[in-house]
Amino acid sequence: MDQDSLKLSVAQAALDIIAPQLESNTILGIGTGSTANMFIDLLADVAHLFDGAVASSQASAERLKSHNIPVYDLNTVNQVAVYIDGADECNEALELIKGGGAALTREKIVAAVAKEFICIADGSKWVKVLGEFPLPVEVIPMARSHVAREIVKLGGDPVLREDVVTDNGNVILDVYNFPIPQPLATEAKINGIVGVVCNGLFALRPADRLLLGTADGVRDIK
Ligand code: 5RP
Repeated sequence: MDQDSLKLSVAQAALDIIAPQLESNTILGIGTGSTANMFIDLLADVAHLFDGAVASSQASAERLKSHNIPVYDLNTVNQVAVYIDGADECNEALELIKGGGAALTREKIVAAVAKEFICIADGSKWVKVLGEFPLPVEVIPMARSHVAREIVKLGGDPVLREDVVTDNGNVILDVYNFPIPQPLATEAKINGIVGVVCNGLFALRPADRLLLGTADGVRDIK
């Protein structure tokens, strides 16, 4: 199976899990990226069964709206039942690296509000130790050089992501050559650098459930 087929298999598995739980007042949280896009497209078929969604990016909001799924401002909803999103890397503790699509801050906010976070990822994202994928860090533009110097002190090689401005008006530093054996501590340490808005480690709030697409089928890891 190719990577896209694996992504589609986990998007479908997520839909199969959540569809029976949908009610007329259900608000879903929807992530960003190609796997999340596949989920959004499948969700169109059950749009009549739930109220609407909050999106982790402008791109996902537009895609949801194109399927006539109402999109709400997070500040106007009381509860997000389930957040469904992809990942760039995941480990057996369901800790993640996210932000390959530069949407990490809004993704982390929606994940924090959601009662349950279901991560959907193809098997290539599974790693023993996080950090083969460069860790995205969203930074206030004027703090870019300061944050980069602090990250070098932590042992990483930060590289400015060219021509990218986040939905929040910030820049992204991708941190290369930075294995992360202790994700909880590293997430907190990077958050503590002045000028950092958010980093792409999801360890303080990991996924609750991971649907991992493999050639042998979808693994459901809780
Ligand atoms: C976007 C993300 C995505 O979830 C991550 O990049 C995975 O993307 P894809 O589903 O396209 O492989 O964190 O900021």
